[in-house]
Amino acid sequence: MILFQPPLPPKYSALTEDEMALAIAERKRTLGSRLVILGHHYQQDEVIRFADFTGDSLKLSQIGAQQKDAEFIVFCGVHFMAESADILSDDRVKVILPDLSAGCSMADMAEIEDLETAWDFLVDECGANLIPITYVNSAASIKAFCGGHGGACCTSSNARKVLEWAFTQGDKVIFLPDQHLGRNTAYAMGIPLDRMVVYDPKTQRAAGFRPRGRSIALANDGQLTPDHVRNARVILWKGHCSVHGLFTEAQCNEIRRSDPGCKILVHPECKWEVVQKADLAGSTEFIIRTVNESPPGSRWAIGTEIHLVHRLASQHPDKAVRSLAGIQCLCTTMYRIDLRHLLWALDELVAGRVVNQIKVDPETKRLAVLALQRMLANVAPQPVAIK
Ligand code: 13P
Ligand code: SF4
Repeated sequence: MILFQPPLPPKYSALTEDEMALAIAERKRTLGSRLVILGHHYQQDEVIRFADFTGDSLKLSQIGAQQKDAEFIVFCGVHFMAESADILSDDRVKVILPDLSAGCSMADMAEIEDLETAWDFLVDECGANLIPITYVNSAASIKAFCGGHGGACCTSSNARKVLEWAFTQGDKVIFLPDQHLGRNTAYAMGIPLDRMVVYDPKTQRAAGFRPRGRSIALANDGQLTPDHVRNARVILWKGHCSVHGLFTEAQCNEIRRSDPGCKILVHPECKWEVVQKADLAGSTEFIIRTVNESPPGSRWAIGTEIHLVHRLASQHPDKAVRSLAGIQCLCTTMYRIDLRHLLWALDELVAGRVVNQIKVDPETKRLAVLALQRMLANVAPQPVAIK
Protein backbone atom coordinates (compact mmCIF):
# COMPACT_ATOMS: atom_id res chain seq x y z
CA MET A 1 0.00 0.00 0.00
CA ILE A 2 1.44 3.35 -0.97
CA LEU A 3 0.30 6.05 1.41
CA PHE A 4 0.96 9.74 1.01
CA GLN A 5 3.53 11.25 3.35
CA PRO A 6 2.92 15.00 3.76
CA PRO A 7 6.11 17.11 3.58
CA LEU A 8 7.82 17.75 6.93
CA PRO A 9 7.92 21.24 8.42
CA PRO A 10 10.78 23.24 6.79
CA LYS A 11 12.86 23.36 10.00
CA TYR A 12 13.81 19.70 9.46
CA SER A 13 15.55 20.45 6.15
CA ALA A 14 17.86 22.92 7.87
CA LEU A 15 19.25 20.41 10.39
CA THR A 16 22.61 18.70 9.92
CA GLU A 17 22.99 14.96 10.42
CA ASP A 18 24.80 15.52 13.74
CA GLU A 19 22.07 17.83 15.01
CA MET A 20 19.40 15.30 14.13
CA ALA A 21 21.34 12.46 15.76
CA LEU A 22 21.75 14.45 18.99
CA ALA A 23 18.08 15.41 19.00
CA ILE A 24 16.92 11.82 18.41
CA ALA A 25 19.07 10.57 21.29
CA GLU A 26 17.57 13.31 23.48
CA ARG A 27 13.96 12.44 22.49
CA LYS A 28 14.66 8.77 23.23
CA ARG A 29 15.85 9.71 26.71
CA THR A 30 12.74 11.85 27.28
CA LEU A 31 10.34 9.10 26.17
CA GLY A 32 12.26 6.41 28.07
CA SER A 33 10.49 3.08 28.43
CA ARG A 34 7.33 4.46 26.78
CA LEU A 35 9.12 4.05 23.43
CA VAL A 36 10.59 1.07 21.58
CA ILE A 37 12.27 1.56 18.21
CA LEU A 38 12.46 -1.49 15.92
CA GLY A 39 14.80 -1.54 12.92
CA HIS A 40 14.90 -3.95 9.98
CA HIS A 41 18.38 -4.94 8.79
CA TYR A 42 17.90 -3.13 5.47
CA GLN A 43 17.74 0.26 7.18
CA GLN A 44 20.50 2.81 6.75
CA ASP A 45 23.26 2.77 9.41
CA GLU A 46 22.41 6.27 10.65
CA VAL A 47 18.84 5.10 11.40
CA ILE A 48 19.48 1.59 12.65
CA ARG A 49 21.87 2.76 15.34
CA PHE A 50 18.86 4.20 17.16
CA ALA A 51 16.94 0.91 17.10
CA ASP A 52 16.40 -0.79 20.46
CA PHE A 53 15.99 -4.06 18.57
CA THR A 54 17.12 -5.02 15.09
CA GLY A 55 16.05 -8.07 13.14
CA ASP A 56 14.58 -9.62 10.04
CA SER A 57 10.82 -9.77 9.53
CA LEU A 58 10.38 -12.82 11.76
CA LYS A 59 12.50 -11.57 14.64
CA LEU A 60 10.83 -8.16 14.58
CA SER A 61 7.37 -9.77 14.59
CA GLN A 62 8.39 -11.80 17.64
CA ILE A 63 9.75 -8.71 19.38
CA GLY A 64 6.65 -6.68 18.43
CA ALA A 65 4.44 -9.37 19.99
CA GLN A 66 6.44 -9.21 23.23
CA GLN A 67 5.97 -5.47 23.77
CA LYS A 68 3.60 -5.25 26.69
CA ASP A 69 4.94 -2.19 28.50
CA ALA A 70 5.84 0.29 25.78
CA GLU A 71 3.27 2.85 24.67
CA PHE A 72 4.79 3.45 21.24
CA ILE A 73 6.58 1.24 18.73
CA VAL A 74 8.35 3.33 16.12
CA PHE A 75 8.93 0.93 13.25
CA CYS A 76 11.94 1.65 11.06
CA GLY A 77 10.97 -0.71 8.28
CA VAL A 78 8.10 -0.84 5.81
CA HIS A 79 4.32 -0.65 6.02
CA PHE A 80 3.49 -4.38 6.22
CA MET A 81 5.92 -4.77 9.13
CA ALA A 82 4.25 -1.94 11.04
CA GLU A 83 0.85 -3.54 10.36
CA SER A 84 2.10 -6.87 11.73
CA ALA A 85 3.41 -5.11 14.82
CA ASP A 86 0.01 -3.46 15.31
CA ILE A 87 -1.78 -6.80 14.92
CA LEU A 88 0.53 -8.63 17.30
CA SER A 89 1.12 -6.04 19.99
CA ASP A 90 -1.11 -5.16 22.90
CA ASP A 91 -4.09 -2.93 21.99
CA ARG A 92 -2.64 -0.09 24.07
CA VAL A 93 0.51 0.07 21.93
CA LYS A 94 0.54 2.60 19.09
CA VAL A 95 2.67 1.66 16.09
CA ILE A 96 4.23 4.46 14.11
CA LEU A 97 5.86 4.36 10.66
CA PRO A 98 8.06 7.48 10.38
CA ASP A 99 7.41 7.85 6.63
CA LEU A 100 4.03 6.65 5.36
CA SER A 101 5.36 6.16 1.84
CA ALA A 102 7.63 3.33 3.03
CA GLY A 103 5.62 0.55 1.37
CA CYS A 104 6.70 -2.68 -0.32
CA SER A 105 6.20 -3.27 -4.03
CA MET A 106 5.97 -7.02 -3.48
CA ALA A 107 3.19 -6.68 -0.89
CA ASP A 108 1.31 -4.49 -3.39
CA MET A 109 1.32 -7.36 -5.92
CA ALA A 110 -1.34 -9.22 -3.94
CA GLU A 111 -4.71 -7.51 -3.62
CA ILE A 112 -7.55 -9.02 -1.66
CA GLU A 113 -10.06 -8.90 -4.54
CA ASP A 114 -7.64 -10.86 -6.71
CA LEU A 115 -7.11 -13.44 -3.99
CA GLU A 116 -10.87 -13.88 -3.64
CA THR A 117 -11.16 -14.41 -7.41
CA ALA A 118 -8.29 -16.92 -7.34
CA TRP A 119 -9.93 -18.77 -4.45
CA ASP A 120 -13.23 -19.03 -6.32
CA PHE A 121 -11.48 -20.60 -9.27
CA LEU A 122 -9.08 -22.88 -7.41
CA VAL A 123 -11.38 -24.10 -4.65
CA ASP A 124 -14.94 -23.76 -5.92
CA GLU A 125 -14.28 -24.60 -9.52
CA CYS A 126 -11.21 -26.85 -9.45
CA GLY A 127 -12.16 -28.45 -6.12
CA ALA A 128 -8.68 -27.99 -4.63
CA ASN A 129 -8.20 -28.78 -0.94
CA LEU A 130 -6.13 -25.65 -0.63
CA ILE A 131 -4.29 -23.96 2.24
CA PRO A 132 -3.40 -20.28 1.74
CA ILE A 133 0.05 -19.27 2.92
CA THR A 134 1.15 -15.69 2.68
CA TYR A 135 4.64 -14.35 3.09
CA VAL A 136 4.47 -11.77 5.85
CA ASN A 137 5.29 -9.22 3.13
CA SER A 138 1.59 -8.71 2.41
CA ALA A 139 -1.29 -6.46 3.40
CA ALA A 140 -3.25 -7.15 6.59
CA SER A 141 -6.31 -8.01 4.46
CA ILE A 142 -4.36 -10.86 2.79
CA LYS A 143 -3.19 -12.11 6.17
CA ALA A 144 -6.79 -12.00 7.40
CA PHE A 145 -7.96 -14.03 4.39
CA CYS A 146 -5.32 -16.66 5.14
CA GLY A 147 -6.18 -16.69 8.85
CA GLY A 148 -9.88 -17.07 8.05
CA HIS A 149 -9.32 -19.90 5.55
CA GLY A 150 -7.16 -22.17 7.72
CA GLY A 151 -3.86 -20.77 6.47
CA ALA A 152 -0.90 -18.92 7.91
CA CYS A 153 1.79 -16.33 7.35
CA CYS A 154 5.46 -17.18 7.04
CA THR A 155 8.71 -15.29 6.71
CA SER A 156 11.83 -16.30 4.84
CA SER A 157 13.19 -17.62 8.17
CA ASN A 158 10.44 -20.20 8.61
CA ALA A 159 8.85 -20.68 5.17
CA ARG A 160 9.77 -24.36 5.09
CA LYS A 161 8.37 -25.14 8.53
CA VAL A 162 5.13 -23.33 7.66
CA LEU A 163 4.81 -25.14 4.31
CA GLU A 164 5.40 -28.47 6.05
CA TRP A 165 2.64 -27.58 8.49
CA ALA A 166 0.36 -26.51 5.61
CA PHE A 167 0.69 -29.92 3.95
CA THR A 168 -0.60 -31.52 7.14
CA GLN A 169 -3.74 -29.35 6.78
CA GLY A 170 -4.53 -29.74 3.07
CA ASP A 171 -3.36 -31.28 -0.23
CA LYS A 172 -2.24 -28.10 -1.96
CA VAL A 173 -0.90 -24.72 -1.03
CA ILE A 174 -1.38 -21.34 -2.65
CA PHE A 175 1.69 -19.30 -1.75
CA LEU A 176 1.67 -15.53 -2.10
CA PRO A 177 2.82 -12.93 -2.95
CA ASP A 178 6.43 -14.05 -3.63
CA GLN A 179 6.61 -16.77 -6.25
CA HIS A 180 10.38 -17.10 -5.70
CA LEU A 181 10.30 -17.75 -1.96
CA GLY A 182 7.47 -20.21 -2.59
CA ARG A 183 9.26 -22.00 -5.42
CA ASN A 184 12.65 -22.09 -3.69
CA THR A 185 11.17 -23.43 -0.47
CA ALA A 186 8.91 -26.03 -2.08
CA TYR A 187 11.76 -27.23 -4.31
CA ALA A 188 14.05 -27.60 -1.28
CA MET A 189 11.32 -29.77 0.27
CA GLY A 190 11.52 -32.10 -2.73
CA ILE A 191 8.51 -30.86 -4.68
CA PRO A 192 9.50 -30.86 -8.37
CA LEU A 193 9.02 -27.77 -10.50
CA ASP A 194 6.42 -29.50 -12.66
CA ARG A 195 4.16 -29.80 -9.60
CA MET A 196 4.12 -26.02 -9.20
CA VAL A 197 2.08 -23.59 -11.30
CA VAL A 198 2.02 -19.82 -11.39
CA TYR A 199 -1.21 -17.93 -10.92
CA ASP A 200 -1.10 -14.50 -12.54
CA PRO A 201 -3.72 -12.20 -10.98
CA LYS A 202 -3.18 -9.50 -13.60
CA THR A 203 -3.95 -11.77 -16.53
CA GLN A 204 -6.92 -13.11 -14.63
CA ARG A 205 -8.15 -9.60 -13.94
CA ALA A 206 -7.62 -8.56 -17.57
CA ALA A 207 -9.77 -11.52 -18.61
CA GLY A 208 -12.57 -9.98 -16.56
CA PHE A 209 -15.23 -11.87 -14.66
CA ARG A 210 -15.22 -15.44 -15.79
CA PRO A 211 -18.63 -17.10 -15.64
CA ARG A 212 -18.73 -20.28 -13.60
CA GLY A 213 -18.47 -23.38 -15.73
CA ARG A 214 -15.95 -22.03 -18.23
CA SER A 215 -13.03 -24.28 -17.61
CA ILE A 216 -10.14 -22.05 -18.59
CA ALA A 217 -8.76 -19.39 -16.29
CA LEU A 218 -6.50 -17.05 -18.15
CA ALA A 219 -3.59 -17.10 -15.82
CA ASN A 220 -0.08 -18.49 -15.50
CA ASP A 221 2.45 -17.87 -18.24
CA GLY A 222 -0.08 -19.42 -20.58
CA GLN A 223 -3.36 -20.76 -19.38
CA LEU A 224 -4.09 -22.39 -16.08
CA THR A 225 -6.70 -25.08 -16.41
CA PRO A 226 -8.36 -27.23 -13.75
CA ASP A 227 -6.10 -30.06 -14.95
CA HIS A 228 -3.02 -27.99 -14.20
CA VAL A 229 -4.41 -27.23 -10.78
CA ARG A 230 -5.22 -30.89 -10.11
CA ASN A 231 -1.62 -31.87 -10.94
CA ALA A 232 -0.08 -29.07 -8.87
CA ARG A 233 0.93 -29.23 -5.24
CA VAL A 234 1.86 -25.57 -4.99
CA ILE A 235 0.17 -22.63 -6.70
CA LEU A 236 2.57 -19.72 -6.78
CA TRP A 237 1.23 -16.18 -6.90
CA LYS A 238 2.93 -14.13 -9.58
CA GLY A 239 4.71 -11.61 -7.37
CA HIS A 240 8.34 -10.82 -6.68
CA CYS A 241 10.74 -8.49 -4.89
CA SER A 242 12.10 -5.84 -7.23
CA VAL A 243 15.35 -5.67 -5.22
CA HIS A 244 16.19 -9.38 -5.07
CA GLY A 245 14.95 -9.75 -8.64
CA LEU A 246 18.05 -7.82 -9.74
CA PHE A 247 20.38 -10.73 -8.97
CA THR A 248 21.09 -12.95 -11.97
CA GLU A 249 22.67 -16.24 -12.99
CA ALA A 250 25.21 -14.26 -15.05
CA GLN A 251 26.46 -12.54 -11.89
CA CYS A 252 26.91 -15.95 -10.24
CA ASN A 253 28.82 -17.22 -13.31
CA GLU A 254 31.06 -14.18 -13.18
CA ILE A 255 31.93 -14.76 -9.50
CA ARG A 256 32.69 -18.42 -10.22
CA ARG A 257 34.97 -17.39 -13.11
CA SER A 258 36.77 -14.48 -11.45
CA ASP A 259 36.92 -15.63 -7.82
CA PRO A 260 36.51 -19.40 -7.47
CA GLY A 261 37.13 -19.33 -3.69
CA CYS A 262 34.27 -16.91 -3.08
CA LYS A 263 31.02 -18.32 -1.69
CA ILE A 264 27.71 -17.10 -3.05
CA LEU A 265 25.07 -16.51 -0.36
CA VAL A 266 21.63 -15.27 -1.40
CA HIS A 267 18.21 -14.45 0.00
CA PRO A 268 15.41 -16.84 -1.11
CA GLU A 269 13.49 -13.94 -2.67
CA CYS A 270 16.05 -14.35 -5.50
CA LYS A 271 14.99 -16.28 -8.61
CA TRP A 272 15.20 -20.08 -8.51
CA GLU A 273 18.03 -20.12 -11.09
CA VAL A 274 20.11 -17.82 -8.87
CA VAL A 275 19.43 -19.90 -5.76
CA GLN A 276 20.47 -23.03 -7.66
CA LYS A 277 23.79 -21.41 -8.59
CA ALA A 278 24.41 -20.15 -5.06
CA ASP A 279 26.28 -22.08 -2.37
CA LEU A 280 23.77 -21.12 0.30
CA ALA A 281 20.40 -19.41 0.51
CA GLY A 282 18.49 -18.21 3.53
CA SER A 283 16.76 -15.34 5.28
CA THR A 284 18.36 -12.12 6.37
CA GLU A 285 19.13 -13.54 9.82
CA PHE A 286 20.60 -16.65 8.19
CA ILE A 287 22.84 -14.51 5.99
CA ILE A 288 24.06 -12.53 9.00
CA ARG A 289 24.72 -15.63 11.08
CA THR A 290 26.55 -17.35 8.23
CA VAL A 291 28.93 -14.43 7.70
CA ASN A 292 29.39 -13.91 11.46
CA GLU A 293 30.35 -17.55 11.94
CA SER A 294 32.62 -17.84 8.89
CA PRO A 295 36.40 -17.99 9.40
CA PRO A 296 38.68 -14.99 8.85
CA GLY A 297 39.80 -14.75 5.24
CA SER A 298 36.55 -16.17 3.88
CA ARG A 299 35.03 -14.48 0.85
CA TRP A 300 31.37 -13.81 0.25
CA ALA A 301 29.31 -12.51 -2.66
CA ILE A 302 25.90 -11.74 -1.17
CA GLY A 303 22.60 -11.44 -2.95
CA THR A 304 20.54 -9.18 -0.75
CA GLU A 305 19.81 -5.52 0.01
CA ILE A 306 22.86 -3.30 -0.20
CA HIS A 307 22.70 -1.69 3.26
CA LEU A 308 22.97 -5.08 4.92
CA VAL A 309 25.82 -6.12 2.63
CA HIS A 310 27.73 -2.91 3.40
CA ARG A 311 27.15 -3.34 7.13
CA LEU A 312 28.42 -6.92 7.06
CA ALA A 313 31.46 -5.78 5.09
CA SER A 314 32.31 -3.08 7.62
CA GLN A 315 31.68 -5.37 10.62
CA HIS A 316 34.03 -8.01 9.17
CA PRO A 317 37.18 -6.30 7.88
CA ASP A 318 38.97 -9.68 8.13
CA LYS A 319 36.59 -11.17 5.51
CA ALA A 320 35.91 -10.14 1.93
CA VAL A 321 32.19 -9.32 1.78
CA ARG A 322 30.64 -7.75 -1.31
CA SER A 323 27.39 -7.63 -3.24
CA LEU A 324 26.74 -10.34 -5.80
CA ALA A 325 25.62 -7.61 -8.20
CA GLY A 326 27.80 -4.88 -9.64
CA ILE A 327 24.80 -2.56 -9.44
CA GLN A 328 23.38 -1.21 -6.19
CA CYS A 329 20.45 -3.37 -5.10
CA LEU A 330 18.71 -0.88 -2.87
CA CYS A 331 15.25 -1.12 -1.35
CA THR A 332 14.10 2.41 -2.08
CA THR A 333 11.10 2.20 0.23
CA MET A 334 13.14 1.05 3.25
CA TYR A 335 15.42 3.97 2.40
CA ARG A 336 12.59 6.45 2.88
CA ILE A 337 12.95 6.08 6.63
CA ASP A 338 15.62 8.65 7.38
CA LEU A 339 16.80 10.69 10.34
CA ARG A 340 14.52 13.59 9.46
CA HIS A 341 11.34 11.49 9.54
CA LEU A 342 12.45 9.62 12.63
CA LEU A 343 13.18 12.87 14.49
CA TRP A 344 9.87 14.40 13.37
CA ALA A 345 7.89 11.36 14.61
CA LEU A 346 9.69 11.48 17.99
CA ASP A 347 9.30 15.27 18.29
CA GLU A 348 5.56 14.84 17.82
CA LEU A 349 5.42 12.09 20.47
CA VAL A 350 7.27 14.29 22.94
CA ALA A 351 4.73 17.05 22.17
CA GLY A 352 1.91 14.59 22.96
CA ARG A 353 0.82 13.99 19.34
CA VAL A 354 0.85 10.61 17.61
CA VAL A 355 1.61 10.91 13.89
CA ASN A 356 1.66 8.21 11.20
CA GLN A 357 -0.04 5.61 13.36
CA ILE A 358 -0.55 2.31 11.52
CA LYS A 359 -3.81 0.87 12.72
CA VAL A 360 -5.45 -2.28 11.41
CA ASP A 361 -9.24 -2.40 11.79
CA PRO A 362 -10.49 -4.83 14.50
CA GLU A 363 -12.20 -7.34 12.15
CA THR A 364 -9.12 -7.65 9.91
CA LYS A 365 -6.97 -7.92 13.02
CA ARG A 366 -9.11 -10.72 14.47
CA LEU A 367 -8.42 -12.99 11.47
CA ALA A 368 -4.92 -11.77 10.60
CA VAL A 369 -3.71 -12.54 14.09
CA LEU A 370 -4.62 -16.22 13.54
CA ALA A 371 -2.32 -16.34 10.51
CA LEU A 372 0.48 -14.59 12.37
CA GLN A 373 0.10 -16.80 15.44
CA ARG A 374 0.38 -19.90 13.23
CA MET A 375 3.54 -18.37 11.81
CA LEU A 376 4.97 -17.79 15.28
CA ALA A 377 4.06 -21.34 16.29
CA ASN A 378 6.27 -22.70 13.50
CA VAL A 379 9.63 -21.17 14.27
CA ALA A 380 12.87 -23.15 14.23
CA PRO A 381 15.35 -22.41 17.04
CA GLN A 382 17.84 -21.03 14.49
CA PRO A 383 17.22 -19.52 11.04
CA VAL A 384 17.64 -22.42 8.62
CA ALA A 385 19.08 -22.52 5.12
CA ILE A 386 16.70 -22.96 2.22
CA LYS A 387 19.63 -24.30 0.28
P1 13P B 1 13.37 -11.08 5.78
O1 13P B 1 13.44 -9.94 6.73
O2 13P B 1 12.30 -12.05 6.17
O3 13P B 1 14.66 -11.75 5.51
O4 13P B 1 12.83 -10.50 4.39
C1 13P B 1 13.56 -9.64 3.65
C2 13P B 1 12.74 -8.59 3.08
O5 13P B 1 12.72 -8.38 1.91
C3 13P B 1 11.96 -7.79 3.97
O6 13P B 1 11.15 -7.00 3.24
FE1 SF4 C 1 9.61 -5.30 -0.30
FE2 SF4 C 1 11.78 -6.30 -1.53
FE3 SF4 C 1 11.95 -3.97 -0.23
FE4 SF4 C 1 11.65 -6.25 1.13
S1 SF4 C 1 13.40 -5.66 -0.11
S2 SF4 C 1 10.55 -4.32 1.49
S3 SF4 C 1 10.33 -7.43 -0.27
S4 SF4 C 1 10.68 -4.41 -2.06
